[in-house]
Amino acid sequence: MSLDSRSFRKALGCFASGVTVVTTLIPGSNDPVGVTVSAFSSLSLDPPLVLFCLGNQTSSLESFKSFGHFAINILSEHQRDMSIRFASRNEDKWQGVNWTKGASGVPLLGGCLASLECSLSQVVDGGDHKIFIGKVERITHQEGGSPLIYFRGSYLELGPPSALAEII
Ligand SMILES: Cc1cc2nc3c(=O)[nH]c(=O)nc-3n(C[C@H](O)[C@H](O)[C@H](O)COP(=O)(O)O)c2cc1C
Repeated sequence: MSLDSRSFRKALGCFASGVTVVTTLIPGSNDPVGVTVSAFSSLSLDPPLVLFCLGNQTSSLESFKSFGHFAINILSEHQRDMSIRFASRNEDKWQGVNWTKGASGVPLLGGCLASLECSLSQVVDGGDHKIFIGKVERITHQEGGSPLIYFRGSYLELGPPSALAEII
C-alpha cells in the first residue's frame, strides 16, 4: 500500500457511522452466524437495495455468499455489548442472545432499531473485502430509539432527538 495505512485508517475513522450486525445461516447445519459491520449503506430505493462490506478473512464469508439471504440488524445505543460480541472471534457468539428466525430463516436480533431481511443479489470484489448487495424483502423497525454510533474507534451515543430538532 503506497499511502500510510495508519493515516488511512485514522482518516476513515473520521466518518461517523451506525453499527449493524449482519446475520445469516450456515447452509446445511442452519446454525446462525453474525458479524459486526459498520460498512453498511442504502443503495437504491426502487428496487430497494442495500449493501455491506465483509473482509475476505471473515470466518462466515462463505455462508453469506452461499445461503442466499441475510439480515441487517441496526443496533440501538443500548447494544454496545452486542457490537463487541459479534466483533469477537468467540466461538459462541450466540449464547444468551435473543433472536428469532425471519421468513427466510435468517436471524433477526431482538432490541434493534430495525432489521432488514434481504435476498442476496450480487457479490462484488472490493480489494480485501467483498461487497454484498441485497434486495430488501421484509422490514421490522421500532418507532423512536437512538442508534449506536462508531467514530474514531470508539462508541458514541447521540443526544436526544429533540436537541437536533431545536437546531433545525
Ligand atoms: C464497530 C465495528 C465495525 C466493524 N465493521 C466491519 C465491517 O464493516 N466489515 C468487516 O468485515 N468487519 C468489520 N468489523 C470487524 C468484524 O466485526 C470482526 O473482524 C469479526 O470478528 C469478523 O468475524 P469472524 O470472527 O467471524 O471472522 C467491525 C468491528 C467493529 C467493532
